[in-house]
Amino acid sequence: MALSACDSRVEDDRPGQPVKHRQEAFKALLRASEPVGIMLSDEQFSVEHLGKLGEALAKTREAPWAYFGPDTNYPPSKSRPEVWTQAEKFEAERLRFFAATDALMAAGSHEAAQAAYDEVRASCKSCHDAFRR
Ligand code: HEC
Repeated sequence: MALSACDSRVEDDRPGQPVKHRQEAFKALLRASEPVGIMLSDEQFSVEHLGKLGEALAKTREAPWAYFGPDTNYPPSKSRPEVWTQAEKFEAERLRFFAATDALMAAGSHEAAQAAYDEVRASCKSCHDAFRR
C-alpha cells in the first residue's frame, strides 16, 4: 500500500551508511546478549552453553565501534555529540564493557555468570546514559 511509505524513520542516505551500520551492530549485540540472560533466569547454566553464547558475544561486540567516524552524527543517529567531544570517556566506557564481557566468558559457575552478566548490562546502561539520546 502506498500509505506504508509514511514511515517516520529517517533513512541513512550517506555513503557507506555508518549510522545504519552501527545501529544494526548494536541490535545484533542486544540479540547476542539476551540469550545469556534467558539461560541464567531459566537456571539452564552450563559452562558449555555459556561458551557458545560467549563466542557469539565476542564476535558481535567488535562491530559497532568502527562506524563512529568523524562527521557521522546526523539523523537517524541517536548518539550524543559527547561521543566525539569526550572520546576518551567513550573509550573508557567501551573498555569497561569489554572487561565485563571478558569476565562473563570466563565465568565458571551460575553465580559468577550472573554477577558478570549484571555488570555487562550495567556497562551497556552506563554508556547509554552518557552517550545515547
Ligand atoms: C561505549 C558505549 C556503548 C556501549 C558499551 C554499549 N552501547 Fe549501545 N549504543 C551506544 C550508542 C552511542 C548508541 C547510539 C548509536 C547511534 O544511533 O548513533 C547505542 C545504541 C544502541 C541500540 C539502539 C540501536 C538502534 O537501532 O537505534 C541498542 C539496541 C544498543 N545500543 C544495545 C546495547 C547493548 C545491549 C549493549 C551491551 C551489551 C550496548 N548497547 C553497549 C553506545 C554504547
